[in-house]
Amino acid sequence: MVSAQNLKVLSRDEIFSKEPEWRVPGGSNYFSMYSSVFGGVVTDPALMVLPVDDHMVHRGDGIFEAFKCVNGYIYNLGAHLARLQKSAELISLNLPFDLDTIRKIIIETVAIGGVRDCMIRVFVSRGLGGFDCAPKECPKSNLYVIAMEAWTAPGYFYTEGVSAITSKIPVKPAFFPEVKSCNYLPNVLVDMEAEQNKAEFAIMVDPEGYLAEAATENVAIVNEEKIFMYPKCGQWSIGLWPP
Ligand SMILES: Cc1ncc(COP(=O)(O)O)c(C=O)c1O
Repeated sequence: MVSAQNLKVLSRDEIFSKEPEWRVPGGSNYFSMYSSVFGGVVTDPALMVLPVDDHMVHRGDGIFEAFKCVNGYIYNLGAHLARLQKSAELISLNLPFDLDTIRKIIIETVAIGGVRDCMIRVFVSRGLGGFDCAPKECPKSNLYVIAMEAWTAPGYFYTEGVSAITSKIPVKPAFFPEVKSCNYLPNVLVDMEAEQNKAEFAIMVDPEGYLAEAATENVAIVNEEKIFMYPKCGQWSIGLWPP
């Protein structure tokens, strides 16, 4: 027979009224978040939460985009929205709004965040359901948009360069690199591998040993003829290279 002895049952007020110290160590600066679950924007990080039965949480069944706002201008928004749409189509995920509405939600969320420079993360999830795998229990997809402090590469990245190793983690098999999905376990392991080997980056290679990508970075080379070369987008890399 199960019985409760130590655990406290918390009220809604006990969770949301206090300072969001329970968020540590996820200590980034978050400025604003739009959630289609709530139907609006919050600026208190304690309220930037997702329902645990959203299939994006427990199955990684969602897609995302990440891009910057620089000095008040969002970089390459059109290309990111186009890739979001393509990812959605590839996994038969209905976007909760048309692209123009999503664009307006992104711009307004950033404006409410009140800073000119930030990182913007956009997620479209399969939506709330039970804990099954099949999407049929999710009647409606969700949109989440977060404006947060942007990471800036240290100066020596540009002056001295970075160290990189070849990753032993197999690159995602065909089809999967075409979808910018929330299934990032291989990428997590790639980042861990870099850290364990005291390198800044670990770079995945395709089955023939050609460059693919790093955990969350594109990789390109300038060859001996000084030609800038990069993997074909969607083959082994999800990066937004020129078409
Ligand atoms: C696996 C992976 N490759 C490459 C990139 C770089 O993408 P972009 O071309 O949009 O900067 C990212 C960024 O999120 C990524 O997650």
